[in-house]
Amino acid sequence: MITNTNDLVGKTSDYMKNLLEGESSGHDWIHALNVLENAREIAAHGKEVNLIVIELTALLHDISDWKGDNSDENSGSKEARVWLESIGSDEKIISDVCNIIDGVTYYGSSSKDKVLSIEGQIVRDADRLEAMGERAVERTRKFGEKYGIPEISDYMPILDLTEEQYKNFRRKENSFVNHFFEKLLLLRNRLTTNWGRKIGDDRHGYMKKFIKNYLEKITPGSIGYKNVSSLLGLLEDSRYK
Ligand code: ADP
Ligand code: NI
Repeated sequence: MITNTNDLVGKTSDYMKNLLEGESSGHDWIHALNVLENAREIAAHGKEVNLIVIELTALLHDISDWKGDNSDENSGSKEARVWLESIGSDEKIISDVCNIIDGVTYYGSSSKDKVLSIEGQIVRDADRLEAMGERAVERTRKFGEKYGIPEISDYMPILDLTEEQYKNFRRKENSFVNHFFEKLLLLRNRLTTNWGRKIGDDRHGYMKKFIKNYLEKITPGSIGYKNVSSLLGLLEDSRYK
């Protein structure tokens, strides 16, 4: 049975809404919808692409992350395959979607990104834009509240995070503020589509201003204060331009 391609997106949307609504670590239904919206916007400003693959991948990209279970790196594409087969998607669409899901994940500043098709680059940019700008503040706060990560600490950020360090969000250097230096302010240079970079420029500027303001308001003597001037200086480093 081959299902009509419009049905595939509709059914996948209903399925993911049901799965992700109420999720609390930043991979909720709103996140999936925003990635879908970002991806459609980027796709509308570029060359012709396979929109069905983009829409399905945007909806499904965090299908296994929501459980907070990262034991199997390919669990997302495996679960997406099971779902897409169950609704009668054809093999070409399934393999395109699954290849992209395996390549959207960020593995730390020292890890290179996978080479992806244009559809994959669009979804990856769409997902990264969701971790930038106002959404960066919102989602990082939510993540921190859920896992008890401090807002700021006396530890400086690690600038070249290995995959292992990146995944270990309970390490002592991780904090709301340090996460901007360790990941979020580096994302602009990881965007690869023209329109994605354009949106990314604004969101990057927003985050820089936010962090600058945040640091300037820290009271002398409080936790993290001894790092304030180093962090303000670091904000001017070429890697964050
Ligand atoms: P994505 O869905 O963009 O691939 P991640 O799974 O890496 O995102 O993270 C989801 C969100 O959770 C991020 O955008 C960020 O705000 C927050 N987050 C991820 N890792 C950390 C961390 N180590 N410390 C604080 N917040 C984090
Ligand atoms: Ni995501």
